[in-house]
Amino acid sequence: MSTVKRAKITALGTYVPPRLLTNTDLEKMVETTDQWIMERTGIRERHIVDKGVATSDLATEAAKLALKQRGIGPEEVEVIIVGTVSPDMFFPATACLVQHKLGAPKAWGFDVSAACSAFVYALQAGAQFIVSGAHKKVLVIGADTMSSIIDYTDRATCVIFGDGAGAVLLEPAADGEDAGLIDYEHYIDGSGGCALYMPGGGSLNPSTHETVDKKMHYVHQDGQAVFKYAVRNMAMACERVLSRNNLKGSDIDCFIPHQANKRIITASGDRLGLRPDATIINIDRYGNTTAGTIPLAMHTAIEEGKLKKGSLVMLASVGAGFTTGVTLLRWAF
Ligand SMILES: CC(C)(COP(=O)(O)OP(=O)(O)OC[C@H]1O[C@@H](n2cnc3c(N)ncnc32)[C@H](O)[C@@H]1OP(=O)(O)O)[C@@H](O)C(=O)NCCC(=O)NCCS
Repeated sequence: MSTVKRAKITALGTYVPPRLLTNTDLEKMVETTDQWIMERTGIRERHIVDKGVATSDLATEAAKLALKQRGIGPEEVEVIIVGTVSPDMFFPATACLVQHKLGAPKAWGFDVSAACSAFVYALQAGAQFIVSGAHKKVLVIGADTMSSIIDYTDRATCVIFGDGAGAVLLEPAADGEDAGLIDYEHYIDGSGGCALYMPGGGSLNPSTHETVDKKMHYVHQDGQAVFKYAVRNMAMACERVLSRNNLKGSDIDCFIPHQANKRIITASGDRLGLRPDATIINIDRYGNTTAGTIPLAMHTAIEEGKLKKGSLVMLASVGAGFTTGVTLLRWAF
């Protein structure tokens, strides 16, 4: 008799570039203050790449650490999925660049474009290969170099974003093992496209001197529209997952939300009735690293002793698109 395999996370690696961009640095670049940034976003500093370092570099470093933690070599990796909104280039896919830099001869893979929900979407895509029995070792990476698409004269966006990456390895849970991905709730709402987007460089507005002069190659954001959508939908999607699994917010041991704004995170936690110490917040140190936030926050949760073998975990994200994603899982190591 064949049983459905659950996918479980068996290793985690994260990487941020060493260079820091602090609120004090930003005070010298645009008209802002440390106090405004802290009060409105919760961010104190973020990590930024040096020139010549790209998303595939951050992703590869994170992937190496995950494989090292699991004690396996890159030749065992079967699939590489990279969630990113800042690929090294349009093509080839960042997954191909990572495959080459990592030296993973047997792997195939692809990129997932879902902005801040890219990590949870890539996680579910990877899990399906495990559940179907097609593959046994899938690397799922969330990586972004947001500094490459941010206008550092626009105070409304440049204070928010940072660079970083995280990678997890997915493998099948053993028969009867209570570990791994349990449920998910994903949806997209394209009517929100114009609230957060990068208009230039694609097939609609191919790069020209004019698109560059108009700064169309940078992130454009209607902050309040995104804020309102995120507060409502992060909690709503989590409630659906809790309710159909007969759980209450207080049953969650570790809530790992996308780190976009501390106020979005605390509003969601309050509405869900989470235990006060269950929510992971590290936005103060990293800012919004888009696809990198959730694995980076997993790392923080482990450091803080809040993520252990057997913990019931809820991942949640809302991002450009709009994209919404929630994953319920039991931590395996
Ligand atoms: C971007 C964000 C922090 C702005 O905070 P806010 O409280 O909504 O602020 P507003 O946009 O209403 O701006 C309020 C004022 O602060 C000003 N302001 C904006 N950025 C500022 C900055 N860095 N420093 C100082 N003042 C700033 C605005 O110009 C505005 O001034 P005005 O009242 O004179 O017009 C907030 O909307 C947000 O976090 N949105 C969600 C963003 C997000 O999650 N993005 C990623 C999605 S995955």
